[in-house]
Amino acid sequence: MKIIRKVSDIIKFREQELKNLSIGFVPTMGALHTGHISLVEKSVRENNYTIVSIFVNPKQFNDKNDFINYPVTIEKDLEMLEKSKCNLVFIPDSEDIYNNYTGFRMDFDGLDKLYEGEFRPGHFQGVVDIVYRLFEIVKPHNSYFGEKDFQQLAIIKLMVSKSNLTLNIIPCATVREESGLAMSSRNERLSAEERKNASKIFEVLNSVKNSMKIDDSPEKLINKISEEINLNPFLKTEYVAFCDPTTLKPVFSFSQNSVVRLCVAVWCGKIRLIDNISLEF
Ligand code: PAF
Repeated sequence: MKIIRKVSDIIKFREQELKNLSIGFVPTMGALHTGHISLVEKSVRENNYTIVSIFVNPKQFNDKNDFINYPVTIEKDLEMLEKSKCNLVFIPDSEDIYNNYTGFRMDFDGLDKLYEGEFRPGHFQGVVDIVYRLFEIVKPHNSYFGEKDFQQLAIIKLMVSKSNLTLNIIPCATVREESGLAMSSRNERLSAEERKNASKIFEVLNSVKNSMKIDDSPEKLINKISEEINLNPFLKTEYVAFCDPTTLKPVFSFSQNSVVRLCVAVWCGKIRLIDNISLEF
C-alpha cells in the first residue's frame, strides 16, 4: 500500500500511473472502524484502484473542542487499510491542501439550514470545501459515503450535480455495533456505560419502524420518540425529524408507496451522536 502526503505528488502519480484505471475513493477523517472498512472493501470490489484519504478537516468543525478531541489513530488506521487491500492512502496537511484554494461555493437549496445545519452552523460548507478539493485532486470515478451521515450524503450529491464533476456518489448502508449503535469514530469517546446506553437510540428507531402506521401523525411520533429516548438518563435528543430522502424537506404526513427517512441527533454525555433509518410505506 502506497502512502502519499503531498498534494503535488498525488496529482502527478494520478496523472502518470493511474490513467487507465477505474478509481474508487473513500474520503475519511481517520479513526477508522468497521464502517469505514466496509466502504473501502466495496470500493476494492468495484474498482481497479482504491484511494483513501485521511484528513481531519478543521473547516467542518463548528465546535473547537470537538476538533481538538477528535480521535487520531493513524498507525491502527494504516494497518486496517492494508488488510482491506486499499492501494493508496493520501494523508495531506492543512496548509498544503488549502494552499491557493478558497473553497467551493454553491446554493445549498436550504439543505444546509435543516437538522445538522441548524445545530452546526458552517459545518456543511466545510464538508463541501474539502470534498470538492479532494475530488479535484484524486479525480475518482466512484466515491463511497456512509448513510449514517445521511444529510452529508445528500449534500455531496447536490454538490456534484451543481458542479462540473462527473463521478458517481455511492451510498453505503450504516454498519452497526452488535448492540445496534451506529458505528462512528465518536463512539470511541463514550465511556463503557455510555456506549451501552447509546444503543437505546437504535432500539427506539427500530421499534417505531415496526409499530408505526400510515395514518400516524409525524409530529406526535416525533414527541413520542424524543420522550422515549430521553427516558434514558444518559441521552438527550437534539432533533428528531421525518424527511424526504432526496430533498430532506420535513414530512408532515405519510402516504402510500412513499419512502421517508427518520433522522435523529442525540447527546450522550458530552458526545453528539446521529443516526437514521429508512421507512417504507
Ligand atoms: O464523513 C466524514 O468523515 C467527513 O465529513 C469527510 C466526508 C471525510 C469530509 O471531511
